[in-house]
Amino acid sequence: MKRIPYGRQHITDEDIRAVTDVLKSDYLTQGPKIAEFEAAFAEYVGSKYAVAVSNGTAALHLSALALDVKPGDKVITTPVTFVATANCVHYCGGEVVFSDIDPETHLLDIDKVRTLLQSSPKGTFKGIIPVDFAGNAINLEEFRKLADEFDLWIIEDASHAPGGYFIDSNGHKQNCGNGRLADLATFSFHPVKHITTGEGGMITTNDEKLYHRIKNLRSHGIQQNYDLNQKNDGIWYYEMQELGYNYRMTDIEAALGISQLKRAGSGLERRKEIAPIYEKAFAGKTFIKRLPGIIEGHAYHLFVAEFENRDELIQHLRKNNIMAQVHYIPVHLMPYYRQFGWKEGDMPVAEKYYQHCLSLPIYPTLTEEEQDFVIKTIEEFYA
Ligand SMILES: Cc1ncc(COP(=O)(O)O)c(C=O)c1O
Repeated sequence: MKRIPYGRQHITDEDIRAVTDVLKSDYLTQGPKIAEFEAAFAEYVGSKYAVAVSNGTAALHLSALALDVKPGDKVITTPVTFVATANCVHYCGGEVVFSDIDPETHLLDIDKVRTLLQSSPKGTFKGIIPVDFAGNAINLEEFRKLADEFDLWIIEDASHAPGGYFIDSNGHKQNCGNGRLADLATFSFHPVKHITTGEGGMITTNDEKLYHRIKNLRSHGIQQNYDLNQKNDGIWYYEMQELGYNYRMTDIEAALGISQLKRAGSGLERRKEIAPIYEKAFAGKTFIKRLPGIIEGHAYHLFVAEFENRDELIQHLRKNNIMAQVHYIPVHLMPYYRQFGWKEGDMPVAEKYYQHCLSLPIYPTLTEEEQDFVIKTIEEFYA
């Protein structure tokens, strides 16, 4: 059996044609494909605006900058995420405060966030960064209410969840990144994600001011709206009004993104076929501590189950060329974050989860035969 990763890209001849067409065109870096990709992505998630950037980490950094995170500002996030979610606050000189996860959903536990907010002096925190971990859409309606109560902004890290949604208290679908509940949402187009541009990211929002600010910050802080320049020396004139970055996406990447986005729906459907097969195969098994469950609106970026003897199991799977992976080592236990005082025991639910979690292969081109092999190899290990 060939190597089976936990996630991988799906590149078609049409994708390759889209990229080579750009290579033959006038624009390689930010050109017409960027605006086209942004419009198509905004339509896909249902937001008013979208800004394409060089990767998901840049999307988070620009979001934190646009929301004015400053030295000393405290921001709450989950320890069960990729390090980039927390790092964006520290890039701006702010400080991340981790709050533990819900043992059932593995998402940021709103009750614990509420307790943290209520037990801290008013004004201690500036914002919250909830994550749609594994593709499971977090209930942002509840987080919005809490954030409004404490005058906080929300950045939704939706890197795992394009196409994901939850049902709100009025029975309405709330798509991840639709801009209605979070101030800003971020996405990543790394090759293991739902759609890829090689490296790439997107920020979505319904806030026009934040949208323009992020567009400026994406390209050195150079003002994009010439009417707002402080003077005008001539047709060559541009103005850098604040310190920005080069976080631009290329037209080559955007062309791939546009082509990939056309198959986002079918890729998501395939993920939704794979997940229940694992669920059915492992339901009631003594070696399983927890399965993710079949959840409406889950985008199944990852299929994370909790296993007994996870460490031995992962070795057995790797020996059989199955590249199962651990998502994630709790971020507060990273050496960088330990220097701020974070230690074992601070996030007991996340730390217990980390002992057992394992992400099994799930991606649109995973074949039935490959999934069968993964299931049989796991069963064989515990037999
Ligand atoms: C939850 C989460 N946030 C942020 C990122 C960062 O995205 P990128 O790798 O595109 O910088 C990732 C990517 O792995 C992620 O999984």
